[in-house]
Order: sequence, then structure tokens, then C-alpha cells
Amino acid sequence: MAVNKEIRYALDYHEATKHSEASLMTSRHYLDFDNKPIPFKIYLELPSIPLPINFPTPEVNALSCISGMISQKSSDDMKGLATAMTSTDNTNNSITVSGVPNFDIESLAEILFFSAGITRELKYPYGKYYMRAASATGALYPIELYVICDDISPNLAAGVYHFSPPDFSLTQIRKGRHKRYLAESTANNQDIANSAIIIIFTSFAWRNAWKYQARSYRHWFWDSGVIAANLLATTHAMGLPTRIIMGFLDDNISQLLCLEDEREACVAIAAIGRQGPQGNVSTVSQQQSERDRISHVPMPKIRALSKRDEINYPEIWELNQASKLTSKQEIQNWINNAYHHHHNMLSATSHRSQKKGANNDDTVMDVPNELDEEVIHNSRSLKEAILWRGSSRRFARRNISSSALRTVLYSSTRGIPMDIFREGNSLIDIYFIANGVDGLIPGAYFYNRNTTASTTASNAPASIERIKEIASSRNISGYLCLGQSLFGDASVVFFLMTDLHSVLRSLGNRGYRASQFEAGVIAGKIYLAAYALGIGASGTTFFDDAVTEFFSPHASNKSTMIAVGVGVPAYKANPGKVLPRRLSKEELLTQTLA
Ligand SMILES: Cc1cc2nc3c(=O)[nH]c(=O)nc-3n(C[C@H](O)[C@H](O)[C@H](O)COP(=O)(O)O)c2cc1C
Repeated sequence: MAVNKEIRYALDYHEATKHSEASLMTSRHYLDFDNKPIPFKIYLELPSIPLPINFPTPEVNALSCISGMISQKSSDDMKGLATAMTSTDNTNNSITVSGVPNFDIESLAEILFFSAGITRELKYPYGKYYMRAASATGALYPIELYVICDDISPNLAAGVYHFSPPDFSLTQIRKGRHKRYLAESTANNQDIANSAIIIIFTSFAWRNAWKYQARSYRHWFWDSGVIAANLLATTHAMGLPTRIIMGFLDDNISQLLCLEDEREACVAIAAIGRQGPQGNVSTVSQQQSERDRISHVPMPKIRALSKRDEINYPEIWELNQASKLTSKQEIQNWINNAYHHHHNMLSATSHRSQKKGANNDDTVMDVPNELDEEVIHNSRSLKEAILWRGSSRRFARRNISSSALRTVLYSSTRGIPMDIFREGNSLIDIYFIANGVDGLIPGAYFYNRNTTASTTASNAPASIERIKEIASSRNISGYLCLGQSLFGDASVVFFLMTDLHSVLRSLGNRGYRASQFEAGVIAGKIYLAAYALGIGASGTTFFDDAVTEFFSPHASNKSTMIAVGVGVPAYKANPGKVLPRRLSKEELLTQTLA
């Protein structure tokens, strides 16, 4: 039964998993290290194919890739492609499927490595940690990536594969072409049907719930979002148009990937590259026989995640179930509702800005509508930014320049190519506390993207508005981030917020997934932009209601999805490396993994 519209599920979950001083004090949870889940999904009996390790690396300027603009020419090309694509074909029930793209296995290896490959190996007396290209809450890495492709000549046959970062290989889950099934499972999504390759993000719930319990459902989307930020930047660098799809039939995808019910689930799908439409149209009986074929595969055996039993948190599965989409019609309505939601929000914003008048006294700084050439010139390539990235563990209490702040804000808010967004749309508002930014008095600020009904976010000027000055801003930013001193020492702490009631009214419970995911992508972009500039960043959790209260009345109707601190690291870090093959399959099957 479709319950997506019964938004009490998302509201109750959000309320029940808020952090507060009281919730921390009364929590009896402890970390059972003896039962800590391993960070890899290891199939016991399925064949695996090594990925090439001599893949190309993204040498393009990072800031341009993060913001989605490689060069004027190629960005225009991309716009052309984007307009040529329609995300979901609402009018036609048949599916057009493209043929094999001009896409090689080295390109696939590049995308997978720079999204989720191993970039650092840390040795401790109790074991090794394998850190990855994108951040992950608690370094627990709950997100798995699956690849769906047609034949990629000559080394990779059409099939469904699981990406295994530690031995840099693909495990074959199914043989054959499945793009048509996927297009069908996304209401005839033409980005899927015409893609060169598809990457699906799933979450293995226990891996993160071990530490974060029921709140870990939020992390499914945070941890997927930061990987998606890397993936989007990498595919931009490669000139491959990419769209993220959250409108899918959950149960179809679980079946295709052989995910175990109430243990793992799909979070998002990335349709990458584009082939001109070629193909064949599936009949109703073909669709039925494909569905039958999909459902008749035994569940593959995997290595146990933990020594002892996994703990199931019913709150997670209740909301995941209540936010499922169960028919093509429901997917189409979901996407249409998202467009209406944005239209209504834009009208409201326009109304508000008219009331305020053009000369807004609160504006303290404009954010130019393009990247500064000199900043680009002095910043890192995408390869360097991803390899240098690693959550800062200590910030010096030093200022960052206002140009760095503007660049981070600009680069992370150019819009995300997603099925529910038209260009530049967003569910997220950015608030921040400035502790040490040249030209800004310490205090609370709002990043006004100045999106009005008559202009799109991509061409309207944005500005920074002061909400209030605070002498002890460092105490407050540290306190709001669960009292972690790291976020008192940061130069700026961003709080990515959304009007949750309004989003849920338009998008149902699945709007909760979308808001958390979008915040994850923006957080991932903030990370990358900071490292592109040679400064540091770390994601953080927060006291939910205290953040809303602090930014109120401006943010009184908003809920925080994610927070991220940016600052100058207090130590000299070393860059990560391209470390694709760290463990053999035998080691994965037999070793104790930290
Ligand atoms: C959304 C998010 C929230 C995080 N929250 C915290 C936090 O509250 N405190 C902290 O010290 N690190 C936090 N981290 C950083 C992770 O612990 C870190 O990403 C992980 O250890 C992996 O290390 P790496 O980012 O250096 O690769 C967070 C990361 C993300 C993506």
C-alpha cells in the first residue's frame, strides 16, 4: 500500500532521532567493538573481475567540476545535452533503450575510484583502516555501489555488478542487459534508458546503525550524498552528463541487486553518459518475462558483517517502507509535485524579496555569479582535491579569506542534476556561523541565493545576509555541533537546513530522503571546494532544535539536515594516494577487518 503521503512517518522519525543534551545524557548506547561490522560487502561464491588500475585521473580544475562548469565551451555542450534530455517521459509508456556506448572499462574504473576508492591506509595496533575518496560518518562506509551496464568491450560483459573497493574489482550479480528493466522501474526515465552506464547507491543498514542506531537512517543519505558529489565532479571532468534519480520503484531495484529485505536498500541511482536513442521498444509480455527472470535468482551468500547478531532498528525500516514509491504513476506524481513545490517556493521568495525592497540592509557581501579566474588558477585539480580530502581533525583558529568563503558557497550551490529538480532548484537553505572570515563580523549569516520567480538560481546574484552578531560565536558553533571543539575552532560552520513540513507536504515521506540526500551532496561539494582551495573541512552532527532556535526567527520553520565546518587545518596533512588494490579476494575472505 502506498503510504508516502502519510507524512507523520517522516515527522515522527525526525523528532525521535533528534540530538539534544538530554538525549545524549540519557543514552545508554555503547560501542560494542567486538561486534563491529566489517566495512566491505564480500560475496562468497560469485565470480569477480579485476578493474584496471591504470585508469586516467581527473586533471581538470576542481572548482569548475564541483560547480558543474568545465569550460565555457564544454559547459555549453552540457547544457545542450541537458536540454536534449527529458528526465521522465510522462506521456509514453514504451521505453526506448540505447545501444552500447563509447565508454570503456578504464572510464568506469576512474569514476568508481574517485567516488569511492581507497585513498589512504591507516595502520593502528588493532588493525588497518581503509579511508576512501569521499567522507563517511564514523568511517563506517555503509554505502555500496552497483554497476549496471551493457557490454563494455572487450573486458566487461553486460550485467549487474557490485563494486568492491578493497580489491578494486567487480563482482557479477547477474548477466545480461538490464537497462530496460531499470528504465521501467523509474517510470520510463529517459536518462536511464539512454545512459552509457548506471551506478546504484545502496545502504547496508547495520554498518552505520552499529554506532548511530536509528539516527543512522539519516546517514544513508549523507554518506551517499558525499559520494555523489565526488561522482558528479568526476563525470563532469570526463564530459559525461549525469543525472541522479530518486524516483524509482524500491522493490524492483532491491530485487535486481539481490538486496536482503530489512538489511539493505537502494538510496539513489546515477545515470551516466548518453547515447543517442537507438533502440527497441519493449512489449508488455517482454516486460513481464524480464520481471520473472529478475525474481528467480537465489540470494547470493556474503561474508557475515559482524561476529554476532546484527541489531535491527525498526524505526529505520518503518520510514524506509513508508517512503517507498510503488507504481509508475506514483513516481510521475512525485516528480511533478517536486516541480510544483519549487514553483510555489519561488513565488514565495519573490514575494518576500519584494516586501523587503531591493536595498536590503542585512546584505553584507555579494557572491558574484561566476568563479574568479585567479581563484581557479590558484586552486587544485579535481584529482588533487579528492586525494587531499580527508576530514580535518584540528583547525587552527585562523581566518579564511572572504574570497574562499564566497568560492565555497558558489561552487556548492550551482544545482544538482536530479530527477526532481529543474536547473538550479534546491530544497536546502544555507545558514552559517562565521568565526574567522576576513571582512565578516563573527556572527550568524544566511546565504541568500536570491532565487525569484522570474530568475533562475544560476543567473541571479546571490548575497550573504547577517542575521546577528555574536561575540562568542566560537563557543556557540562548537556547542551546536554536539560540543565538539573542532567546530568552535573552524573558521565557518555551515548548517544546511530545509523547511521540512513544506517539503513533506509536497513530496511525502520521500521528500525526507531527498532533503537529506541533497544536503549530503552539498556537504560533499563543500568538502571538495575547501580542499580545492587548500583549506580543510569536516562534516558534523548537531543538536537539532538548538540550531533552529539559534537561527530563529529567520529559520524558525527549518530543520537542519547536515552541518559542515571549514577552516585552516592546524597541522600539515599529507595527500592521499591512488591506492586501488589493497587486499586480495583471499584476504577479504579470511582476514579480520577493522
Ligand atoms: C555528514 C558527516 C558528518 C560527520 N560528523 C562528524 C562529527 O560529528 N565529528 C567528527 O569528528 N567527524 C565527523 N565526520 C567526519 C567523519 O568522521 C569522517 O568523514 C570519517 O572518519 C572518514 O574520514 P575522512 O573524511 O578523513 O576520509 C562527519 C562526516 C560526514 C560526511
